[in-house]
Amino acid sequence: MSKLQLGIIGCGWIAPFHAEALNRLCDRVKVKWVADPIEERAERIAAALDGDDIDVLLDYRAGLGGVDAVSILVPHHLHHPITLDALRAGCHVLLEKPFALTLDEADAMIAEARAQEKTLMVAYPHRYRKSTQAFKRVIESGDYGRLFMLDAFMDEDNREYVTGGWFVKKATLGGGVFFSASAHMLDVMLWIAGDVQSVSMVGTQAGLPMEGEDTAISIIKFKNGVVGSTRHTWFSPKPDRWYSMRAFCERAVVCLTVHPLGNLAVEGRRCAWSSRITVAETGAEEKVLLDSDEGLDLTEETRHFLDCVESGARPQTDGHVARQLMQVALDAYRDAEAKGAN
Ligand SMILES: NC(=O)c1ccc[n+]([C@@H]2O[C@H](COP(=O)([O-])OP(=O)(O)OC[C@H]3O[C@@H](n4cnc5c(N)ncnc54)[C@H](O)[C@@H]3O)[C@@H](O)[C@H]2O)c1
Repeated sequence: MSKLQLGIIGCGWIAPFHAEALNRLCDRVKVKWVADPIEERAERIAAALDGDDIDVLLDYRAGLGGVDAVSILVPHHLHHPITLDALRAGCHVLLEKPFALTLDEADAMIAEARAQEKTLMVAYPHRYRKSTQAFKRVIESGDYGRLFMLDAFMDEDNREYVTGGWFVKKATLGGGVFFSASAHMLDVMLWIAGDVQSVSMVGTQAGLPMEGEDTAISIIKFKNGVVGSTRHTWFSPKPDRWYSMRAFCERAVVCLTVHPLGNLAVEGRRCAWSSRITVAETGAEEKVLLDSDEGLDLTEETRHFLDCVESGARPQTDGHVARQLMQVALDAYRDAEAKGAN
């Protein structure tokens, strides 16, 4: 089978993680070009990719006709226009999260993908991680009884990362930390617990120079009766994990914890990791069920995209799932605004 020809649009912080995954899948995909208006960023990603024949473009539009698919890794306010350009040029799209800034934008992107009969997948990486999948399997095995509560926490120090530009403005980020990044946790929670009955949120600006909140807590009731919470800060004085989720079942607490072993915001792809699943049963010592060095590895996410393009199957995190996550976030902001809580 011939390889899928792909272009990368946006060569900033997340791009080396995509490049690494694409290198791992080089038997199935060939990166033809990388595009960024900042040439040295595009050159850095071209150099990180396998192959010495990768074009560097300042304007992605020049490359759309020559590829089957694009990875779109740009600021949030550009997700909608660039995705529409790519779909209209006949490209399948892997788009970084969050989907869009508004539900109208999301609907237009879903409709365009359908009209063009192209795959549109939104990159919510956590559910594609092997350790998250193992966590879900343990909960769903029923070995520890019925799930009744999920508690998720993201503990990040983004002082080196959120310094200006599009990150600090609501018009370009779409909101604050909750809109931009808490959906990583919400995606896994909805994947495990299903549809949301209600959500509320509180937020604060702890210290980052952002218009939106840099710290947010939400509480969620799922239609199946499960309750959940997310806590998230980008201003942690001393992060002791990147991400954790605890699942309270009738007879045990199952916990997934993902620790960067360095400063993720600064070290990026060089950062080493530890991912661990533990189970603490009533009256017993805590047991380790899984210990791995899996970190922000986008290989399985990218493999799923390639599988869906090849088979025509619907991606797990397609436009409808991503729209549902946006709806939850927007409902949470509406609740917070009504109560003066953000
Ligand atoms: N999955 C994750 O854990 C994760 C982590 C960080 C960022 N992200 C997402 O990745 C996306 C990019 O974030 P980032 O941190 O890499 O931001 P960034 O600012 O570091 O990089 C964005 C890049 O896009 C480029 N760009 C701007 N306009 C462009 C255009 N018209 N054509 C091509 N390139 C253009 C910028 O020059 C910049 O290099 C966002 O959607 C963000 O939410 C995901």
